[in-house]
Amino acid sequence: AAAEKGGFDSFMAKEIADQPQAVADTLLGRSDEDGRLILDELRVDEAALREIDKIVVVACGTAAYAGMVAKYAIEHWCRIPCEVELAHEFRYRDPVVNARTLVVAISQSGETMDTIMAVRHAREQGARVIAICNTHGSTIPRESDAALYTHAGPEIAVASTKAFLAQITACYLLGLYLAQLRGNKSPGEVTDILGQLHAMPDKIAKTLEGLDQVRRMARWMADTRSVLFLGRHVGFPVAMEGALKLKELAYIHAEGFAAGELKHGPIALIEPGQPVFVVVPSPTSPLHPKVVSNIQEINARGARTIVIAEEGDEDVVPYAQEVVRVPQTPALLAPLVTVVPLQVFACELAGAKGLDVDQPRNLAKSVTVE
Ligand code: G6P
Repeated sequence: AAAEKGGFDSFMAKEIADQPQAVADTLLGRSDEDGRLILDELRVDEAALREIDKIVVVACGTAAYAGMVAKYAIEHWCRIPCEVELAHEFRYRDPVVNARTLVVAISQSGETMDTIMAVRHAREQGARVIAICNTHGSTIPRESDAALYTHAGPEIAVASTKAFLAQITACYLLGLYLAQLRGNKSPGEVTDILGQLHAMPDKIAKTLEGLDQVRRMARWMADTRSVLFLGRHVGFPVAMEGALKLKELAYIHAEGFAAGELKHGPIALIEPGQPVFVVVPSPTSPLHPKVVSNIQEINARGARTIVIAEEGDEDVVPYAQEVVRVPQTPALLAPLVTVVPLQVFACELAGAKGLDVDQPRNLAKSVTVE
């Protein structure tokens, strides 16, 4: 087993380090030499895809957070309304789904029963279903109209990391494909965004190189009882994922919030010493000053603010106890780098508590029962 971990303490640590490759492999072979997007495997009737008037992403756990990122990208690029729903909720509430609905089922394993049931329900209503999946020949892609595979390689640790980044990457590809097919983006625009995507593996690698500070923080904070995570826009699902990782691995109470919601409730939780991670949007985003003012507010109430911010973003410095740097990225693609410090934090903190990082208590890699 030690050899399989490639010198890392855990499969999870190895899988976090493998993320630049997982994203690169998921992009590989999906564009031609002119930079045009080619998704040959997506054998869904193109005429039907032009007719769809709604997209519903269904998934569970970490995959559902990838779906939330998909929603921001798909609506922005394709102008098709897109909802994200936990597969187990979707299945049992009589959702409005018909032949003009595209359902996107995201699952690393392809065997999550809740997601399988959502796929079956959607197809019974006449919806087209595209699976985004990491496991060839598994149930979800077999039961879908088409599959877009993530190429993260086998993921052993129960808590998902590299599969998550690969899922987000595949969601971007699907969004671009639909935008291209439906004429919302010109070939030149698609090529530009693909170029930005191809630059992400190096940025993820660069993020990974700068995380000793996060590891040190995790060790200091091993006896922390509660951690909050704030994010906005695509940083919101990243905050939720950061909280989920900490619950799953370190058994610490953690919650992710949309930063704009702070004043509507969560700010009541802020007291001196409360650790709060804040995922800051790029300074190019109109949301940047709003999140900086959130940091200011929680800092003024004595919280211990740990800020994930782009290189060169100096506005956050006066209000942050710690600033973790990530490379500059286009705003929509930021989750591929901003989630990485949060994964490393949870992994390191669980290790510092002496917990089994790869097999947290009570959890299964793939939940094949309802
Ligand atoms: C389980 C795992 C999670 C995973 C979720 C969905 O709960 O512990 O890490 O995110 O299932 O799994 P899937 O294979 O459908 O992506």
